[in-house]
This record gives sequence, structure tokens and C-alpha cells, in this order.
Amino acid sequence: MNTYMKENILIVYYSYSGKTRRIAEEIQRQTGGRISQIYPRQPYPADFESLLKQVREENRSGKLPALLPITESAVGYDIVFAGSPNWCGTIAPPLAAWLDKSDMTGKVILPFFSHCGGEDKGMEQAVRCRCPGTDMKNSLYVLENSGERLLHIVQGWLEQNFPPERKISNG
Ligand SMILES: Cc1cc2nc3c(=O)[nH]c(=O)nc-3n(C[C@H](O)[C@H](O)[C@H](O)COP(=O)(O)O)c2cc1C
Repeated sequence: MNTYMKENILIVYYSYSGKTRRIAEEIQRQTGGRISQIYPRQPYPADFESLLKQVREENRSGKLPALLPITESAVGYDIVFAGSPNWCGTIAPPLAAWLDKSDMTGKVILPFFSHCGGEDKGMEQAVRCRCPGTDMKNSLYVLENSGERLLHIVQGWLEQNFPPERKISNG
């Protein structure tokens, strides 16, 4: 069994409808790290068509949303889990905005994504290009409504990807 040096771990995520939050909470439960949600200053529209239009425009223009200054900073953490829903094949703009203002140099990055069956058309790459000089591990992709299996999905991914030297083995 392994335990984690939880003081070094930050789990940061954006979630529009709660699915990515569930994954973040499961990672938090298993690692004991600090969890922190990202909030755009102006919440996204509730209406899907308006939401889609805004997201496409943000992706096209590269103009990312302003964020509420309440999300934990990455400063002082060695290991950062970064989560987002799959939005149009890439990460949601609020995660991109948070990564853009964070210096991740020297950290271990573990990306995790929620999706409804669509492919990664640039999610991992969108995180990678914003995290130069980091040790980025394999991404976790979780199909929404994965239910009870989430515990094992997260456990297996952590076993494969969490840096072994950062685990405290207790037999
Ligand atoms: C604007 C928008 C675009 C989406 N685009 C995709 C997509 O391209 N591929 C996919 O698999 N899921 C897509 N989804 C579905 C979400 O990724 C999925 O429902 C996810 O679990 C939601 O996570 P959340 O509850 O944390 O926001 C999209 C959802 C929204 C609202």
C-alpha cells in the first residue's frame, strides 16, 4: 500500500457540470492533496448553444476568460493535477487561463479529463504547451457517468503515473 506526501500535491480543475469535479474529488480522496476549483469571473451561459458559441469564439481568438482570484496558486507544490472537461476536443478555456498565469517549471503535471466519448484533439497538447520544463505524465481520460468504477480508474492511473519516489511505501 502507498501513501502520498500530500503537502506537495495540488489538484486544480475547472468543471462546468460537475463531472470533472467528481474525478478531482476522487484524486483528492486517494492522495490527500489540496483541491481547488477554477472559476471564470463571468460564469458561462446555461444555454448550450450560447455556451458552444462562446467556447468556439474563445478557442478561435485565443482570448481566454478572466478568472476569480480564489484558486490556489501552484507556488509551493511539486505535483499538480490539472483537470478539465473535453470542450470541442480541447481543454476548457478557464484551465488554459489558469495554466497561462502559473509557472509550472520543475513540477510534475498529471492531466485529467472528463469527456462524453469524443477524442482528445488537443487537450494533452494544450496542457503540454503551457507547461514547459515540467515532467508531464500520461493523461487520465474518464468517460462521464463512470459511476462506481471511478475509484478503480483513478487508482490504476495513479499506480502507473504517480512518481514512485514521491510515494511513501508502508508495506
Ligand atoms: C461546450 C461543450 C463542448 C463539449 N465538447 C465535447 C467534445 O468535443 N468531446 C467530448 O467527448 N465531450 C464534449 N463535451 C462533453 C463534456 O466533455 C462532458 O460532458 C464532461 O463530462 C463534462 O464535464 P464537467 O461536468 O466537469 O463540465 C462538451 C461539453 C460542452 C458543454
